[in-house]
Amino acid sequence: MKNKIILLGPPGAGKGTQAKLLAAKNGLAHLSTGDILRDEVARGTDLGKKAKEYMDRGDLVPDQLIIDMIRGRLDESAGFILDGFPRTVTQAEALEKIVAMDIAINIALSREDVIKRLSSRRVCRKCGKIYNLLYNPPAVDGVCDECGGELYQRDDDKREVIENRYDVYEQATAPLIGFYKERGLLVDVDGSKGTEEVTEQIAAALVS
Ligand code: AP5
Repeated sequence: MKNKIILLGPPGAGKGTQAKLLAAKNGLAHLSTGDILRDEVARGTDLGKKAKEYMDRGDLVPDQLIIDMIRGRLDESAGFILDGFPRTVTQAEALEKIVAMDIAINIALSREDVIKRLSSRRVCRKCGKIYNLLYNPPAVDGVCDECGGELYQRDDDKREVIENRYDVYEQATAPLIGFYKERGLLVDVDGSKGTEEVTEQIAAALVS
């Protein structure tokens, strides 16, 4: 099975949801640059302070900060899933110099669906489980089914910030589709399907 996996796709395509499922099922490490940055912000580190202004606007954090942050976390000998990285051609070129990836899965979703999903996303403050008020609501309003933690709405899940994130995706990240196609690593997945169906599409790509 391919086990060095990049999950590409616009904000809200389901990268985090699928990465958590894949990691749990296959014993892979899950590296989310968004989660790492949010942790740095919460802890008030120097990196977190620098990153926050970009994240609040929905802009990308500068490449060099991200590349330095991720470099030490990639264990070349083990399997891992990259969620939210690389995000620019510069980041993808830096990654190529660190480790050879097996596959880049592009989870496609329209702008309209992205806005709908992200405006209704909620995340557990304690364990990070991802919910959706429309498609995957918790049993009790505001409370995580898994750990009882508080559910919150991300600061960047406001409509105007979501719109900017999608614009930034189209301009800076969508070129990676061609980048990985040229290298024979790209597989397209239809992100508009239900969670289980998307998982099945990804599972099939990993063994083909
Ligand atoms: P990051 O945290 O990476 O955000 P993102 O890429 O915008 O992705 P999201 O986490 O919003 O969405 P997702 O695809 O994981 O979807 P999810 O599974 O949650 O980045 C945040 C910020 O950090 C960036 O804006 C930037 O500033 C900075 N940053 C991070 N990485 C960077 C980098 N490499 N370079 C520079 N800056 C960087 O699902 C979304 C919702 O949909 C949920 O509610 C979920 O329950 C629901 N859902 C999921 N799948 C389905 C389905 N199949 N059907 C119905 N609902 C579904």
